[in-house]
Formats: sequence, C-alpha cells, structure tokens
Amino acid sequence: MSEEVLFSITKENLETGLRGYPTGYCPTSYVHPDKGLYYSGIAVDELTGLSLEEVIYLLLYARKPTSDERSQFIHDLKKRAQIHPDVLAHIKSLPKSGSPLKLFACALLLEKMLNKREGRDGDDYWEDCLDVVAKAPLLAGAVMAHVAGWNGDTPMLQDGYVERFVHSMHLPKAPSHDLKEAFRLFLMLHLDHGGGNLSTFVGKAVASGLEDMYGSLASAMLALEGPRHGRANQDALELLSDVQKELGLAATTDQIKEYLRKRLKEGGLIFGFGHAVLRVEDPRATIFYAFAQRHFKSNPLVQLAIHLREAASQVLKETGKVSDPYANVDAISGVVLIAAGFDYPQFFPLLFGASRCVGIARQIIYERLEARGGKGTPIVRPQYLYLYDPQFSG
Ligand code: MLT
Repeated sequence: MSEEVLFSITKENLETGLRGYPTGYCPTSYVHPDKGLYYSGIAVDELTGLSLEEVIYLLLYARKPTSDERSQFIHDLKKRAQIHPDVLAHIKSLPKSGSPLKLFACALLLEKMLNKREGRDGDDYWEDCLDVVAKAPLLAGAVMAHVAGWNGDTPMLQDGYVERFVHSMHLPKAPSHDLKEAFRLFLMLHLDHGGGNLSTFVGKAVASGLEDMYGSLASAMLALEGPRHGRANQDALELLSDVQKELGLAATTDQIKEYLRKRLKEGGLIFGFGHAVLRVEDPRATIFYAFAQRHFKSNPLVQLAIHLREAASQVLKETGKVSDPYANVDAISGVVLIAAGFDYPQFFPLLFGASRCVGIARQIIYERLEARGGKGTPIVRPQYLYLYDPQFSG
C-alpha cells in the first residue's frame, strides 16, 4: 500500500501551480470534483441548517457536538473573543488606504504581540487556534468599522458568533434578519475548502517553519488577497456590473450569451465560473443561488446573476476548451450580501478570510501536532530544477 503510486511527475507537470500533486493529508474537509465540498465527511448542503458554532466544532473536532458540548463551546468562544484593548487603538491608526484584508493581517499580528499569555511561550497551536477562531470576527469587524468610518462604542460581547461579528462592525443601519442569515451562510461556506487552496497551503507552509498560529494565518491572509483567490468575488461582481451596463438589469439569458461570446472573442474573461478542482457547479454556489431565490427573488441583481449562471455555463461549454464551465461560489456570494443590504464589496475578501482562519488553523494543528504519529510534517522544501541546466531545461 505504501508503495502505491499516487502521482507521477513529467516535465508537463512543472510550472502548473502544483495542480493535482498530492502533498499530504487534510483532516477537515475535501473537495470532490463531481460532488463538491464535504466538511468532516458531510456534504455542505446538509449542514446549512446548523448554527455556525456547530459547524466550526465539526471542523475542529471531526464530529458534531452533543448539546452539552455545543453550549460549552459557545461559552468558551465567547470567553476567548475579547480582543486586547490596545489592538483596537492600533487598528484605528492603520492607513485606510490599505486593503481590509491586509489590515486584518496586521490586526492578527498585533493581537499576538500584545496578548502573549503569561507563563506560556505563547506558541500553543491548539490554544491559539481556539483564541483566533473566537477573535477573528471581532478583529475583522473592527477593521471594517475603521475603514468605513462606522462608529460606536466598544461592542458588548453577544452570545452568538454571528451576532458578535455583526455588532463589532457598528453598521450604520441595524442589520435585518436576512442580512444576519446571509452572513451566517457566507461564513459557514467559506470556513474550509480542502487542503490545497492557496491560502491554506501558504498558512501550513509558513507554520512548517514553526512560525506561530497568528503569523501563519497572517501570511495566509495575504495569500488570499489576490484576485485569483479571495478577491475573485469582486471580479465576479465586476462582470455582473459590466453586463448590467451593457444590457441593463432586465437582460435575458440570450442577450447575456451574445455579450459573453463577444467578450471572450475580445480576450475578456468570465469571472466566477470554473474551478481548479471542481467539475460540476460548486455546491456552495448552488446553496447561495437557492438562498437568493428564497429571500430576494424579486431583486433585479439576483435575477441578472441567475441569468448569467445559465448563460455563462452554456457559452463556456461552447468553447470546448473549459474543463469546468460551471458557477463557483464567487459568482453569487457577493450578490447575496448586496441583496441582503451589505453593499460593501471591498469587505467581501475580508469576510472570506475571517471565516477561512478556522479551516487553516485546524489544518495547521494537524500538520504541527498530529501528522506522522505526532512528529508533525517537516519544513516545506520542494525542489526547483535549475532553468539553465541542459539536463532539465527546454
Ligand atoms: C477556495 O474556497 O479556497 C477556493 O474555491 C479556491 C480553491 O479551492 O482552490
């Protein structure tokens, strides 16, 4: 069994972003190309009725909590959620011109620097994981409040995860039930996505040098920053806005298809469609589309996104060159937040990052404390072939 060949490498596999290379084990979730995302063996569409805390528990402990464990976990997260008062002051001095995700990475580093626990070396991965899971929403909320200029008193700590998150933002208008539900779903569906997505891979790679949890997560957040990863939902919104500008909000599927064919011909891209692993519609997208239909059916932007879902898949299939022509989560996640009243796309990557800290942190624990019979994985150190070596180049 240990001799089994999992992957063989030819020159064609070089410079492909390690696409498909098995590099280790992931204890939290997996992405099946034809079925999508599973958290601890359960398809995500079976989890949407649970509270966020229950799903986080499932990812951290690989099973659903009993009702006592659930109450204890909710209590523990609340106890750990308070952020250092000086961190709040430092966040308020960060330049608003920086992207929210970068400010969040700074906030993570500050929290660790200012909050070193007495009597510990401060690098306990499990303790830091639980702390950071509890604190991430408040840190993210404080960053958003600072960047947007939303003011309010330091929030009272609410009991629920989503409630705490929403309160820490100091939104100008009291959040509706639909908006809280949209946040719950958004956070739940971004908690984890297998072991090989860029931010998770980077977080684990940095931790493999024995960097602490907060520093590793801060690095992961920068990996999430680019338009190919955490900022992809903004590009997807831009496509929707281009369609709207060109054809209006009442555009039909056929009109959108024509527009997309022209866009492709001119070298343009269709954002929000396709995925490195998936070969079907991303189930996270399917869940968001269903949520949008249920809650915001008459919203014209939602309608346009639904027409785009069909048109883009068909046009991409026509090209015959696209291995996954279906919608991914980015095609609709932002639309749902906007329809729910949170029309701040500049914060969508940060919401993604605050949520993804959970999966990355748990995967870091596995690699540092549990893998290889508890020895942990060694420092990441792949080989690069020398470009000018006649034996390898060309
Ligand atoms: C994610 O959620 O991380 C994205 O879908 C990207 C990926 O899985 O590679």
